[in-house]
Amino acid sequence: MHTDCPRPMPWRIEDIDLTRIDLRQAAGNEDLLLLLCASSFIESGTDLYTKNLTSYFDDDPEVSAWLNTEWEPEELQHGRALRAYINYVWPEFDWDTAFRNFFDEYSKTCSVDEFEKTRALEMVARCVVETGTATLYRAINECSDEPVLKEITDHIRTDEVRHYKHFFKYFKKYNLIEGNGRFAVLGALMRRVAEIKSEDSEIALRHVFAMRYPERIHDTAYNRERTARISALVRRNLSADMCVKMLLKPLGIPARIQPGVHYPLAKITQHVFFR
Ligand SMILES: [Fe+2]
Ligand SMILES: [Fe+2]
Repeated sequence: MHTDCPRPMPWRIEDIDLTRIDLRQAAGNEDLLLLLCASSFIESGTDLYTKNLTSYFDDDPEVSAWLNTEWEPEELQHGRALRAYINYVWPEFDWDTAFRNFFDEYSKTCSVDEFEKTRALEMVARCVVETGTATLYRAINECSDEPVLKEITDHIRTDEVRHYKHFFKYFKKYNLIEGNGRFAVLGALMRRVAEIKSEDSEIALRHVFAMRYPERIHDTAYNRERTARISALVRRNLSADMCVKMLLKPLGIPARIQPGVHYPLAKITQHVFFR
């Protein structure tokens, strides 16, 4: 429970006229819609994680006010916006049931224990998450020519970059107190990257497939192949450069060393972040 007043949103899905969606163009890219739907599940499931995160920073009025009045409502709107888009393009798709099935499984993978040991390091982990989503929505934006999807994903990407900047600012605030060295920061960074790889998107896509192609529900080879195709679509359009720059920032690596780590990290990013 929190009493902070919600701030006006930077944009509202209600202000976007969905009837402008070019249905032929939108429905023509089924893989992209599957990915959008999976993203709508993960964003809508944020609710669970925000409760844990806000209680972790409960006694810091600055951080908890921002989490409660800006970050959480914006993340939840991402889920609502993508869901509204999917509903418009796939009116027959039972989003609620598919989301419920996803959430049953997903909620078991989130717990307070998974937080980093210190607040500064948890902020690093949050920077990694926002880097991942900012990169993902930029890639989705590049994949599509459908004007309404472009508009929505542009808004979401801008939100995610702003979230990153806040988490980075709070990382610096806490690291002044904690004084974590570069290796501790790198550890938190790698732990969070490894976590992204293992779970969220795979669980979400599996539940999207189950609702969209019930006849294929036991066809694991088909599902695996489709997941790989969707990952390849993201990888082809992703800006590894932006992703790496954002990941490197909390490490405070001097500019003269950066080019040396940039290329190998970009390669790793492509294969680990978006398998
Ligand atoms: Fe988001
Ligand atoms: Fe975000």
